[in-house]
Amino acid sequence: MLPTAELHIHIEGTLEPEMLVGLARRNGVALPTSDLDELRAKYSFADLQSFLDLYYDNLPVLRTSQDFYDLTSAYLDRAGRGGVRRAEIFFDPQVHLRNDVPLAAIFDGITSALGDSDISAELILCFVRDLGPDAAMETLRMALPFRDRFIGVGLDSAEVGFPPAPFKDVYELAAAEGLHRVAHAGEEGDPEYVRQALDVLGVERIDHGIRAMEDPELVARLRDEQVPLTVCPLSNVALRAIDRLSEHVLPKMLDEGLLACVNSDDPAYFGGYLDDNFAALRSELGMTEQQFATLARNSFDASFATAGQKAAWK
Ligand code: HPA
Ligand code: ZN
Repeated sequence: MLPTAELHIHIEGTLEPEMLVGLARRNGVALPTSDLDELRAKYSFADLQSFLDLYYDNLPVLRTSQDFYDLTSAYLDRAGRGGVRRAEIFFDPQVHLRNDVPLAAIFDGITSALGDSDISAELILCFVRDLGPDAAMETLRMALPFRDRFIGVGLDSAEVGFPPAPFKDVYELAAAEGLHRVAHAGEEGDPEYVRQALDVLGVERIDHGIRAMEDPELVARLRDEQVPLTVCPLSNVALRAIDRLSEHVLPKMLDEGLLACVNSDDPAYFGGYLDDNFAALRSELGMTEQQFATLARNSFDASFATAGQKAAWK
């Protein structure tokens, strides 16, 4: 299995139906159905929002630090079997806080699973962009007492209509705290979202970024500045950002000299983990081992690991 870093993975998006049902039982949370086939049948999406509706509906089953530990351990075990050596993992504290889960329980559960794994893993706290910049600022301030448990901040959830610029102040605070900064941009949003994330938020990586390919000037800039792009091929097909994998822009990104890497985003919902993404890229897009080697090297280069760690993995 090709050793890789996974830099775009939402821990909540690794909630498999089996674990969903198990946690619902353990915590006495009602689900519309406990039938695994019926649950899986819902995993068909028209766009980002239709996915987010189901993703948020499922999250109230996560209640205790043990739940977060179990979720994170299951992801790390599965990812490790797929070649992942380094994982920079997103989580959405605002959603769990809204479900009355204390921040300490979230951090305790996830970070103890990271500590128990052989994979080098770190946490990136994401702001839910449709809850707005004031809520994001309040969340970052609440999380600062746990500053040593996460390495960066990100911006996720509904993109179109929620551009990056209004989050300027919260990203400035994150920078002042020495946190890394990334943001989802150019998944459904146009190239202007990518530009704002770079120019206004000062992000070090763009999550997705596929729509940047519509703008040759932006492509030239991404190449010149070697801005990392965490591309999620199976996610793009599942959420219909791209009609079929055979039309994915990833090979073009590599041809353009962009620092793109492959990621699974929400593997429980989108048809697979990192190795499943690579397998689909091979079978449906005819991508080669040489391209995979470039993607793997890019993933380590794009990570926030130390130079020494990167040298050991590559
Ligand atoms: N895109 C945007 N926001 C998200 C996603 C995604 O794929 N998964 C969880 N939050
Ligand atoms: Zn994502």
